[in-house]
Amino acid sequence: MSVNVIVGTQWGDEGKGKIVDLLSSDADYVARYQGGANAGHTIVIDGKQYILHLIPSGILTKDVKCIIGNGVVIDPVALMEEIHMLEDNGIDVKGRLFISHKAHLIMPYHKVLDQVRESSKGGEAIGTTGRGIGPAYIDKARRIGIRIVDLLDRKTLEEKLRHNFKEKNNILKKIYGYEESDTESIIENYLEFDNIIDPYITDISLLLNEEIKKGKKIFVEGAQGALLDLDHGTYPFVTSSNPTSGGACTGLGIPPTSIENIIGVVKAYCTRVGNGPFPTELNDETGEKLRSIGAEFGSTTGRARRCGWLDLVALKYSIMINGVSEIALTKLDVLDTMPEIKICTEYEINEKIIKNFPADLLTLSQINPVYKTVKGWDRSLNGIREWDKLPQEALDYFKEIEDYVEAEIKIVSLSPDRADTLVKE
Ligand code: GDP
Ligand code: IMO
Ligand code: MG
Repeated sequence: MSVNVIVGTQWGDEGKGKIVDLLSSDADYVARYQGGANAGHTIVIDGKQYILHLIPSGILTKDVKCIIGNGVVIDPVALMEEIHMLEDNGIDVKGRLFISHKAHLIMPYHKVLDQVRESSKGGEAIGTTGRGIGPAYIDKARRIGIRIVDLLDRKTLEEKLRHNFKEKNNILKKIYGYEESDTESIIENYLEFDNIIDPYITDISLLLNEEIKKGKKIFVEGAQGALLDLDHGTYPFVTSSNPTSGGACTGLGIPPTSIENIIGVVKAYCTRVGNGPFPTELNDETGEKLRSIGAEFGSTTGRARRCGWLDLVALKYSIMINGVSEIALTKLDVLDTMPEIKICTEYEINEKIIKNFPADLLTLSQINPVYKTVKGWDRSLNGIREWDKLPQEALDYFKEIEDYVEAEIKIVSLSPDRADTLVKE
């Protein structure tokens, strides 16, 4: 067994990109299994920042091969932009990037539909990234999606494109009053993508299973987070895929028995971008402080992230659903100036205590978080290079988390940079 899965345990943006980059330094492969260019994974190496949306975070390490799985929805325009961005920075992706022939494509009409549906909902909007994710997964489930493999057969591709454009233009015009775009030139463009994407197309499930048999070291990178999971998140304020660890098997075509380890990335507090319930959200000075110190602005859309204290009720649920075996705790440094830190240990509603994460929106929107207050370390963690040099208050904070969620913290991140990370021996 050689597969390690890295997942987000909250509402995304936990720092998965940094942790994947760090852990995959001696990996053979890093594979993405779901989501699309809604993700924004930030990696900082020697002060230089890279933001990846589709290509796995292993790409910055020479010799690591990267896979985009069948469960990912690929916007070819965003993919090309990303490949060019990497090449401009001297990072060659040729021979290192493999794209599943079964992955579905995001078409321009998916992005338009995403945006017009959101703006037509007003206050009820999900607050999506507008990247066409939901509409592309809808087409996949409706069995009318266009897959990477379709790019290889021009005639059928053209037929499918014409059929889909006709249907989507009708919906856009009749329901949303949206004027038709220049369909012919878009079709022409998409017919050309086969030339560009062809060198990367692979049967990645076959490749991965063969490499697993050989004992190769494989990291699997989740996008988004458990609380945005289509099945297990705060539905309907979720994304349209399964970021939880189960999604890794369906999104790559690898068996559950191949998975050795599941690493949950946990931000030392909570953030959420977009709408939907957030029990520990702080609409006050402390929330503002977390946002400014943590630079909590979306890596994909630039939107301000909502901020709040760490929610152990939600985290325990997420660790259970994912089967997290170890935790990477990120952004601990953001709490450096907090004299006191609050941790949510239960929810209260109508004088009743709840310890399990509720499924219904009404309960989620009415619950009051109950906090335990712990002492902060109230000093800078900058420059700490060894685990046992961490302040006792920080170690006590870890213990509170570990005891509650029953998983061990093995990695601690102290800045955006690859170098500022502690690994427990
Ligand atoms: P992802 O989507 O889970 O990969 O996370 P994002 O990249 O969207 O957001 C995490 C942000 O926090 C990025 O700007 C990172 O550079 C930054 N970051 C990651 N780890 C740390 C850390 O330990 N401390 C601080 N201050 N920033 C961090
Ligand atoms: P990474 O991988 C944080 C959120 C959106 C919105 C909801 C649905 O960087 O952690 P979508 O565009 O997916 O239909 O939007 O999900 N969302 C994310 N939030 N991090 C992400 O990815 C996200 N990807 C989607 O803000 O609330
Ligand atoms: Mg992100």
